[in-house]
Amino acid sequence: MKPASVSDYREAARRRLPRVLFDYIDGGSYAEQTLAANVADLQGLKLRQRVLRDVSKARMEVELFGQSLAMPLVLSPVGLAGMYARRGEAQAARAAKAAGVPFCLSTMGVCSVGEVAEAAGAPPWFQLYMIRDRGFMAEVLARVAEAGCPVLVFTIDLPMPGARYRDVRNGMVGGNARQRLAQSLDGLTRPGWLWDVQLNGGPHTLATVHGAAKDLKRLMEFWTWVAKSFDASLTWDDIGWIRERWKGPLILKGVLDPADAEEAARCGADGLVVSNHGGRQLDGVPSSIAALPAIAEAVGERLTVLMDGGVRSGLDVLKALACGAKACLIGRAWAWSLGAGGEPAVADMLHIIRRELRMAMALTGCVDLREAGPDLLAR
Ligand SMILES: Cc1cc2nc3c(=O)[nH]c(=O)nc-3n(C[C@H](O)[C@H](O)[C@H](O)COP(=O)(O)O)c2cc1C
Repeated sequence: MKPASVSDYREAARRRLPRVLFDYIDGGSYAEQTLAANVADLQGLKLRQRVLRDVSKARMEVELFGQSLAMPLVLSPVGLAGMYARRGEAQAARAAKAAGVPFCLSTMGVCSVGEVAEAAGAPPWFQLYMIRDRGFMAEVLARVAEAGCPVLVFTIDLPMPGARYRDVRNGMVGGNARQRLAQSLDGLTRPGWLWDVQLNGGPHTLATVHGAAKDLKRLMEFWTWVAKSFDASLTWDDIGWIRERWKGPLILKGVLDPADAEEAARCGADGLVVSNHGGRQLDGVPSSIAALPAIAEAVGERLTVLMDGGVRSGLDVLKALACGAKACLIGRAWAWSLGAGGEPAVADMLHIIRRELRMAMALTGCVDLREAGPDLLAR
C-alpha cells in the first residue's frame, strides 16, 4: 500500500528496520509522556476554518538566515541516520535539497559533512554537540566552516543522555552478549535492510567524531561513549567560545523556558529551537507547542524562533507558525521515511507535508505564511 501520511511511513519503517533501530527512532525517555504530549498538544489545537477568501495563490516560501526556503521546514539533526538506509544522511540531504528545505547534519551522523555536501550539491546546516576535548571541537568547527555550512545549530539539552528504556531493553545501552546475539538474529530477519545497510552501507562509523571516538567499538552501543564524552560542565559563558570560532548564524536548540530564551538573546545567538529533544531527554517537561507562545512572546523580536517536537503533518506546521514559530524542524518524520525507503520516501514525505500545508492554508484563508499568526487558531 502506498504511504499516504507520516504515520504510514512510521509503520513501513517498523516493518523494514531491525527492532533496535526502530525503537531508537520511535522511542522517548522514561514513560514517554512528553513524547506523547508533543503530538497530543499539537493535535489538540484547533484551526479556524475560513471560506471565500481567494486562496487560488499562496506564498509558502519563508526567509531564514538569508536563505529562501520553499516552505518553513528543516530536517532536524538525527543521529545514526546512516544505519536506517545506506549512507542515509546523504540520501535525506538530497531529498531536502530537491524540496527546497535545509538538511541539518548531526554530530552523531554516519556521513561526514563533505560526503553530505557532495551528495546534495550544497553544504548542510551542522548540529554541534560539545564533547570534552576542546582541541578536537575547534577542529570540527574549522572543518564545518571550511565546508561552507551556512548555519550552526548547537544542541544544549543533552548534557547527559536521558533514560530511554527501550534502548536499555534492546541492548543499546551497555548491551550484553545475549542482547548482541538477539540484535544480530533480528537483523537477519530484515533482508531489505541487511542488504542495503549492513552489507553495502559501510563504513559504519560516526564520521565527524571518528577521530575522538577510537574507543567506540560498536556503533550500536554509542550511548556509553556519549555519556562519558559529552561535556556536562557547559554554561552560557561557553557560547562565547563557540562565537569566537563560528562567524555565521548560531541557533541554540533545546530551549523550553522563557528565562533561558532571554539568556540565549543575551549571549548573542541568532535563533533558538523550542525543543525537548522530541521527548527523548527529560520526561515530564511541557510539550514544545505548549512552551512556544511564551518564548516567542519573550524573544521573538530579537531572535528567530523555531520549534520541533511532534510535527507529523502540514497542519502541525501551520499550527506551530500560528503559535509564533518562524519554521518547524522534523525529526522522526524523516527518520521513519528514510528507514522505510531511503531518498524517494523522504522526498515523498516532504511532498505530503507540503500538500497538507497548502490545503490547510487554503481552508484557513492564509495566503502568505509570513503572516501566519494566532488568528489562524479557533479559541
Ligand atoms: C532517532 C533520533 C536521533 C536524534 N539525534 C539527534 C542528534 O544527534 N542531535 C540533536 O540535536 N537532536 C537529535 N534528535 C532530536 C531531533 O533533532 C528533534 O529535536 C526531535 O526529533 C524533534 O521531535 P520529532 O521527532 O517529534 O519531530 C534526534 C531525534 C531522533 C528521533
